[in-house]
Amino acid sequence: MAELVVHGGTPLTGEITVRGAKNFVSKAMVAAVLGHSPSQLRNVPQIKDVHVVSELLRLHGVNVSWDPETGVVDMDPSNVETAHRADIDAHAGSSRIPILLCGPLLHRLGEAFIPDLGGCHIGDRPIDYHLTILREFGAKVDKLASGIRITAPRGLVGTQVSLPYPSVGATEQLLLTAVQARGKTELRNAAIEPEIMDLVAVLQRMGAIISVDTDRVIRVEGVDRLEGYTFTALPDRIEAASWASAALATRGDIYVRGARQADMVTFLNIYRKVGGDFTIDDAGIRFRHPGTPLHAIALETDVHPGFMTDWQQPLVVALTQASGLSIVHETVYENRFGFTEALTEMGATIQVYRECLGGLTCRFGQKNFFHSAIISGPTPLRAADIEVPDLRGGFSHLIAALAAEGTSRVRGIELINRGYESFTAKLEALGAKVEQA
Ligand code: EPU
Repeated sequence: MAELVVHGGTPLTGEITVRGAKNFVSKAMVAAVLGHSPSQLRNVPQIKDVHVVSELLRLHGVNVSWDPETGVVDMDPSNVETAHRADIDAHAGSSRIPILLCGPLLHRLGEAFIPDLGGCHIGDRPIDYHLTILREFGAKVDKLASGIRITAPRGLVGTQVSLPYPSVGATEQLLLTAVQARGKTELRNAAIEPEIMDLVAVLQRMGAIISVDTDRVIRVEGVDRLEGYTFTALPDRIEAASWASAALATRGDIYVRGARQADMVTFLNIYRKVGGDFTIDDAGIRFRHPGTPLHAIALETDVHPGFMTDWQQPLVVALTQASGLSIVHETVYENRFGFTEALTEMGATIQVYRECLGGLTCRFGQKNFFHSAIISGPTPLRAADIEVPDLRGGFSHLIAALAAEGTSRVRGIELINRGYESFTAKLEALGAKVEQA
């Protein structure tokens, strides 16, 4: 496990740049498989998830060339082919993206094999919605010990689906499958995150016919053929918010070049309520600690346009420094407060609850999951030896270590590379005293 030694207690100040959104780039790369001509994606960050998806595409015959400096990825899908099972297996557990290859591979090859999925351990993260959608289109799904084999002997036919919950991945699954299914498809209770709207834009550039109607309804008319696309990825609003929270927690001042207001309106409202200062210009957003005490808040995570679950963990670190009791109700994942144990060890006062402590009763209310938290502050944080639990929780641990007086050791930082480009270099640019162990 890679380890970072963090000498905390110094405010993070300066400028960093965020590039394309992890949770868009990987899906746009999958979409390229549907094209009959090459695609080019721009503003791609150098993160592990992009490596994983590039490898998966190559295994399926897509010619991928990636210049990490310029952030340009070229993908030529002229020779899409079935990958060797053993090669795909090697990627088992490394990402959740493979499940999204189902639709494109079924359209191109009539079959797909998906290894066991990875991703962060922040709940059960089932794929039942994905499989239901694929079956609705007429696919045959066989579960094997090593993964899932999917075939479409009679092709895929448009359908009507209503999601039990507006899942991001399931909405993307539907889009990537419906665009070339025969006839019309309607999705009710769809997710409408900005990353999904940009995936819709990518597919439209490829030749798809998709309308996003009010009340979370997406309608798709299948077309026979799609071509490649050229597209610039939207900025990573999760990374931008993570640095914003780091500025608050360390009493710092960070200009996040690339951050875009339109995708962060809900975050910025909460940031202001906590007492954080920000200034917006055309190129980015400057986030800073006000120099006066921060305020406690009540917060509920939700699907877009609500407060993103991925913004929650870094912000909780900042809330340990706010005066009073903050309440955070996590309604997207059942198990996203595991990271608070380390914060408590570091001196934070955080109590987690099974009850829904927000205004709403959520899906997890009667299910025994610790999905609400009360944070009492301000409490100084002490240095500690900690292990990264997952991507966002890991970044939060880093922020906590940077805010704490003394020297912490943060183990397992390779998990953070999945979604934060060059984060150690960025930390150094912001004046953090860190060194690889
Ligand atoms: N769900 C099901 N069944 C399914 C699919 C989802 O019950 O078949 C449930 C999940 O268990 C969860 C909820 O629906 O409780 C929402 O999950 P969703 O499908 O929306 O999440 P996802 O597509 O797996 C993406 C991001 C996550 C982000 C969520 C929510 C990617 C690769 N991942 O996950 O990002 O938290 O949407 O916005 O796009 C991260 O970047 O750290 C991360 C975890």
